[in-house]
Amino acid sequence: MQNAERPVFELVDVEKVFQVRKPGQRFGRQTVGLHALDGVRLSVGQGASLALVGESGSGKSTLLRVLLGLDAPTNGQALYRGRAIREARAGGSDFARDVAMVYQDARGSLNPRMTIGALLAEPLRRFAVVPEAQIGARVEQLLTRVGLPADAAARYPAALSGGQVRRVAIARALASEPSVLVADEAVSGLDVSTQAQLLSLLRRLQQEMGLTLVFITHDLGVASYLCENIAIMYLGRIVETGPTDAVLAAPAHPYTAALRAAAPSFFQPIAEPLPGEIPSPLDLPAGCRFSGRCPRVQGDCHASDPYLARAGEGRSVACLHPLASPQASALAGTFQD
Ligand SMILES: Nc1ncnc2c1ncn2[C@@H]1O[C@H](COP(=O)(O)OP(=O)(O)OP(=O)(O)O)[C@@H](O)[C@H]1O
Ligand code: SF4
Ligand SMILES: [Mg+2]
Repeated sequence: MQNAERPVFELVDVEKVFQVRKPGQRFGRQTVGLHALDGVRLSVGQGASLALVGESGSGKSTLLRVLLGLDAPTNGQALYRGRAIREARAGGSDFARDVAMVYQDARGSLNPRMTIGALLAEPLRRFAVVPEAQIGARVEQLLTRVGLPADAAARYPAALSGGQVRRVAIARALASEPSVLVADEAVSGLDVSTQAQLLSLLRRLQQEMGLTLVFITHDLGVASYLCENIAIMYLGRIVETGPTDAVLAAPAHPYTAALRAAAPSFFQPIAEPLPGEIPSPLDLPAGCRFSGRCPRVQGDCHASDPYLARAGEGRSVACLHPLASPQASALAGTFQD
């Protein structure tokens, strides 16, 4: 049953396992399970804005695919307003209309043979958002809403700049009047000023339309500008979550502290990267998955991999020896923040 009282998304111990060829085998048929998501717990309320942050390969896009119902979890529950996401997605157009996606490759997501007007009219017709006679006017409204001139409707994607193409992708996502917007690296790879314009557009739209926003980014600055809450991912698991400002001001997880310290800032030397390399999900260390790189590792860290546990106001952390405020700030300092 769909239920407006329930969170928009709830993930309960979600695992996603891909069967991949055994390492070292080029031609063999033997496969092993790769845990792209491993015990993910998450709740996103109506109107919330959540940034998903983590290194490459940490499972962000897989998590998004589960939220969109494109991938089924191998284990655990993935719910949309109290109903299994896959079921909600299969159940008709309500889910597709309510949950919109902005893809990382905005240009690739737009048919190059269609004009911008036709690209925006398509979802308006598919979801019968307005009567046929009003489609032209609604296309114009959508263009204005994302800061594009009305004459952009007659152009093809190839005639637009990278920033303009992202605006079209956002307009197309908004055409169905969704209440949830999910975006994967929607502003990455752009110059700083275009990125700033798009971020300010997204923030305005989120506030004006009361959108629930799930936003994947590598950039802590982007997360902090756009999202009230943040979830830090490491090798398939959320290791820390809470209000973005509080988490970034005083991280509780050593990995968050390291990410925070590695974020470039003016007039500061660039911090040393974390020791070691991010391991393969096929070769996790015993115990805590961060233990091979953690500056706070202790004996018991090799015995168990901690799950998220409450750590103060609205915050959770998956660490046996979390940094505690104000010690947190002090240790973040040792990473040359
Ligand atoms: N279809 C698939 N088949 C096999 N392995 C996969 C598949 N999709 C993802 N993976 C693996 O799952 C892990 C998580 O991948 P995912 O793409 O979710 O990471 P990500 O955090 O989005 O990374 P990036 O920042 O590079 O986009 C990686 O080890 C990846 O190789
Ligand atoms: S559990 Fe131990 S190894 Fe893992 S992050 Fe916490 S201190 Fe580091
Ligand atoms: Mg990704």
